Amino acid sequence: MSVKIGHVSGLRISGTESVCLIRTNYENQTTSFSQQTTGGRNPAYRNSLAGFIVMKAILLSEFGGAENLALGETETPVAGPGQVLIKVAATSVNRPDIIQRQGNYPPPKGDSEILGLEVAGIVESVGDGVDSLVAGERVFALVGGGGYAEYAVAYAGHVMKIPDNLSFQQAACICETYITAYLNTFVLGEPGPADVILLHGGGGGVNTAAIQLVQTLLPQATIVVTASTGKVDRVRKLGAHHVIDYKTQSFADEIKTITKGKGVNVILDHIGAAYLADNMKSLALSGRLVVIGIMGGIKSELNIALMMVKRQKIIGSVLRSRPVTEKAEIIADFNKTVMPLFASGKITPLISDVFPLAQAAAAHRAMEQGSHFGKIVLDV
Ligand SMILES: NC(=O)c1ccc[n+]([C@@H]2O[C@H](COP(=O)([O-])OP(=O)(O)OC[C@H]3O[C@@H](n4cnc5c(N)ncnc54)[C@H](OP(=O)(O)O)[C@@H]3O)[C@@H](O)[C@H]2O)c1
Repeated sequence: MSVKIGHVSGLRISGTESVCLIRTNYENQTTSFSQQTTGGRNPAYRNSLAGFIVMKAILLSEFGGAENLALGETETPVAGPGQVLIKVAATSVNRPDIIQRQGNYPPPKGDSEILGLEVAGIVESVGDGVDSLVAGERVFALVGGGGYAEYAVAYAGHVMKIPDNLSFQQAACICETYITAYLNTFVLGEPGPADVILLHGGGGGVNTAAIQLVQTLLPQATIVVTASTGKVDRVRKLGAHHVIDYKTQSFADEIKTITKGKGVNVILDHIGAAYLADNMKSLALSGRLVVIGIMGGIKSELNIALMMVKRQKIIGSVLRSRPVTEKAEIIADFNKTVMPLFASGKITPLISDVFPLAQAAAAHRAMEQGSHFGKIVLDV
C-alpha cells in the first residue's frame, strides 16, 4: 500500500510477539496498520523506544472488533505549550470509541491515536504558558484521544478541577457525555423553560446525562425518552415524565398522543437516518432537531416542504472536531453553568460498570451488548 507517512511509532502489545506500526496520513485522516512478528528482537523496535519514557496503554492492532484491543507499551506523551500532562486514574468508554476502533472516527489532526476521549487524574506537569494549573491537582479533562493510557495530554482550557465530593471514576464520566448533552440540548437546542424535550436512547451515557441536566436546569420542562424494554423503568425513575419503548412502540405515534398533536420543541437524536422522518413528524412548529449520532445510518429522505412550513431546524453537531479554542469556550461555559450542580451533589455521574484498563476489550463488548445503564469506566 502506498500512503504518505504522517507519523510512525513502534508499539508493543503485551502477551504477543508483535510490533504494530501505525501509519497515519494526516492529509486525508486515514490510518493503516501493519504488524510484524518479531519475537521481541526487532532492533527497530528497541531503537524506537530509546529516548522516551514508556507507559502502558490500550493499543489497537488493527481496525475491527474488540479483540483487537490489548494492553501494551508506548511512548509517554509530553505536554506542549498550553498543554497539561495528566497521570490518568480513570477514563471511560464512549460510543465514539467503538466507532474509532472500527476505523470510522479518526482523531483530529495532532491528537493521540490511542482511544479515549476523557480522563480524570492528577496533573503531572504543565507546558509553557500554563499558569491556571499546577502539578498535583486533581483534574478531569476532555481529550481528542489518548484516554486509555497511564498518561494523557490535554489542552489547559479543556481541563477542569474535580470537586472534592467526586471520585476520579465519577469525574471520568463527565466530559464527553455531559458536555455533549449540555451543548446540544441547551446551547444548540435552545429549549424554553416549559418546553417538551425528546431524548432518544434512555440508558446510554449521553442520554442519562441529558435527562439529569434537563430535570435540574429546566424543572418545568417535560422530558420524553425512548428506551429499550428492559430500561423503561430505570429511565422513568431517573426523571423522564414519559418513556416510550422503542422496541414495541412507534415514538411518533406516542409523541402525538402525549403532546395532543403539538409535537416536541427539542429533540436530541443519535440514531440519524432511521429516525429522521419520525423525528420531523414529532417536531412542533419552530422545533429544533439536534443530530449528534448516526447509529441508524447516514442517508434518509426529508420532506423539505413540511420542514419549511413548520419552520423547523435540523442542527448537526460534533464535539471532537471543533477547534481547540471553541472547545475551551464550551468547557468554560459548562464549568460555570453545570459543574456547580455536581459540586453541590444535585447531579451524580451514573456509573454502570467498572473494568480495569487491561480489560478494555471486555468493556467495549459490554457497551456493544447494550446492557449498561449510564457509563462504563476504565480504572487505570
Ligand atoms: N456528536 C457528538 O459530539 C457526540 C459526542 C458523544 C457521543 N455522541 C453519540 O451519541 C450517541 C450515544 O453515545 P453514548 O456514548 O452515550 O453511547 P451508549 O452509552 O452506548 O448509548 C447509546 C444508546 O443508544 C440507544 N439506542 C440504540 N438504538 C436505539 C434506537 N433505535 N432508538 C433509541 N435509542 C437507541 C441505546 O439504548 P438501549 O440500551 O435502551 O437500547 C443506548 O442506551 C452515539 O451515537 C455517539 O456516537 C456524539
